[in-house]
Amino acid sequence: MELPYAEPYKIKMTEPIRPSTRAEREQWIREAKYNLFKLRSEQVTIDLLTDSGTGSMSDRQWAAMMTGDESYAGASSYFRLKEMVGKLFDMPYFLPTHQGRAAENVLFSAILKEGDIVPGNSHFDTTKGHIEFRRCHAVDCTIDAAADTQLEIPFKGEMDLGKLEKILKENPKEKIPCVVLTITNNTAGGQPVSMRNIRETSELCHRYGVPVLFDSARFAENAYFIKTREEGYADKSIKEIVREIYSYADMMTISAKKDGVVNMGGFVAMHSEELYRKVMQYSIMFEGYLTYGGMSGRDMDALAVGLDENTEFAQLDARIRQVKLLGDLLDDYGVPYQRPAGGHAIFIDAKKILPNLPKEEFIAQTLGIELYLEAGIRGVEIGSILADRDPETHENRYPKLELLRLAIPRRVYTDNHIRVIAAACRNIYERRESITSGYKITFETPILRHFTVELEPVKK
Ligand code: F0G
Repeated sequence: MELPYAEPYKIKMTEPIRPSTRAEREQWIREAKYNLFKLRSEQVTIDLLTDSGTGSMSDRQWAAMMTGDESYAGASSYFRLKEMVGKLFDMPYFLPTHQGRAAENVLFSAILKEGDIVPGNSHFDTTKGHIEFRRCHAVDCTIDAAADTQLEIPFKGEMDLGKLEKILKENPKEKIPCVVLTITNNTAGGQPVSMRNIRETSELCHRYGVPVLFDSARFAENAYFIKTREEGYADKSIKEIVREIYSYADMMTISAKKDGVVNMGGFVAMHSEELYRKVMQYSIMFEGYLTYGGMSGRDMDALAVGLDENTEFAQLDARIRQVKLLGDLLDDYGVPYQRPAGGHAIFIDAKKILPNLPKEEFIAQTLGIELYLEAGIRGVEIGSILADRDPETHENRYPKLELLRLAIPRRVYTDNHIRVIAAACRNIYERRESITSGYKITFETPILRHFTVELEPVKK
């Protein structure tokens, strides 16, 4: 008999999960103003809010923390991380930051000016926030196929080169400080970008004299999909694929809380010394001195090890198999989601489940609240609350998709938890016709409102 698959690690430490009743959850979500971010973690049974900073570190990472050098300047931890960044991405200039959006803040402070255009394949919300905050325009050039959740194609996160070229042609290069390629494409469902699209995007931008920035939060998962789905890469190691990917980038920002498998951290890296010299003052102003930039020495050491370990095939394989297990179970139950299963999450297609709910009542948010009430599972809305209002017209923006993202933290939950999640989704799907009304906003901030928004049921 062929032996079944098993994860390439065993578990050394556990953390208890507190169960709850439906009545408790009804009270807690009301007190949280129907915003899942406002729940206390003890009020959540299975937390799928994000895979960011929520992974479980390895024993080697914990051991590396003990070697952390907390010197203000020139810490050896910094040099160990710098060496790893050089080895993986071949970028000699780098600045640590406390997380991904801080990396965006540091870099964009140096390269964006009011009125600029920053095209990309579905900018992440903080990236879009940092662009719009500077009165610049984030223009989405994702392929149209990404909006059809039932279409199964291997690289659904790609840049549409036609849309991108139109912008590059119609605007002077001085107005386009960079193009952002996000790998994997989080907003479109954790969908990857092929090496071919990465290369062609880079070549196109360079033809127009525009540099390319890779938003790299889930770069290793993207490399895994290239290895397993793109012709010519099956025999290459993840590290070799990563090096090729970054040979097409001019600069990168990364939230290391995802594929770096640390609880906190990020960085900016680049090839150009001239650019580094322009950017470094913003690191000092916003993050910290150049050799720590908002990170503790011990965290830089844990990150160096995390980056090394998580660019090995077996680690990525275990993770992506678990996400796929959730997708396969949802297939069995007929629950629609963005196909194929993504790298870090399953994105449930809320519009398909609640087709009669008006978009003004926040379809994906309504589904998210239902899932919490059903089983104490916390996902996150990727829909019109996240999309914010248009900065100029102040009208609500209603994206094509209303998704409920169920992000799977790395090495945290077992396949039994995955089965509970799938069963809870199935229960909601079976009673979907009983969900006839949603929510309205009672408080919101002008930018990145989804973190702090307050809601109440439309029908009480
Ligand atoms: N870029 C992408 C593609 C991201 O997914 C994130 C964060 C960031 C940038 C910002 O990084 O959180 O470290 O400041 N995504 C998290 C998520 C929050 O849940 O997907 P950060």
